Amino acid sequence: GAAVEADISALKPGEKMTVEWRGKPVWIVRRTPEMLAALPKLDDQLVDPASTRKPDEQAPAYARNATRSIKPEYLVTIGICTHLGCSPSDKFQAGPQPSLPDDWQGGFLCPCHGSTFDLAGRVFKNKPAPDNLEIPPHMYLSDSKLLIG
Ligand code: FES
Repeated sequence: GAAVEADISALKPGEKMTVEWRGKPVWIVRRTPEMLAALPKLDDQLVDPASTRKPDEQAPAYARNATRSIKPEYLVTIGICTHLGCSPSDKFQAGPQPSLPDDWQGGFLCPCHGSTFDLAGRVFKNKPAPDNLEIPPHMYLSDSKLLIG
C-alpha cells in the first residue's frame, strides 16, 4: 500500500490522532514530559522493555530506543493488539486504577482479554498479548508532517 501523510500540527500534548495505513489504524500520540518521564519506571512490569524480542518485526531500527520513537515527544504505533488483533482503548490518566498495573501511567487497554500497553506501546506482563505494539516505518517530512509507510 501507499504511504500516507499525517499532519500533526494540531495535535496537542496528551492527545492522540489516528490515520489509516494499509487498512490498519496508526496512532500518533503527542507525549507530555510527564508521560515520557514515567516510561523508564515501568520497565520491570513489562514483557520486553527494551524491545529485543522480535526487533525486526516490531520496530524499524530508528525506533529501537527507550521511547520507541524518532522524536521522544511523538509515539507512532499500529493500534492493533498483538494477541488476537483487537483494537485497544486509550487510558491516558496517570495514577493507580482498578485492574490496571500498579504504576499505571496511562497507555492502552485491550478490551478483548485485558492486555495493557504503556505509552511507548510496550506490553505489560501477565496478560495474553505476547509482544509490544508494532511501530510502522515512518519519517518526518517537516516538524508538522509525518510520512507513514
Ligand atoms: Fe488483545 Fe486478546 S486481542 S488481549
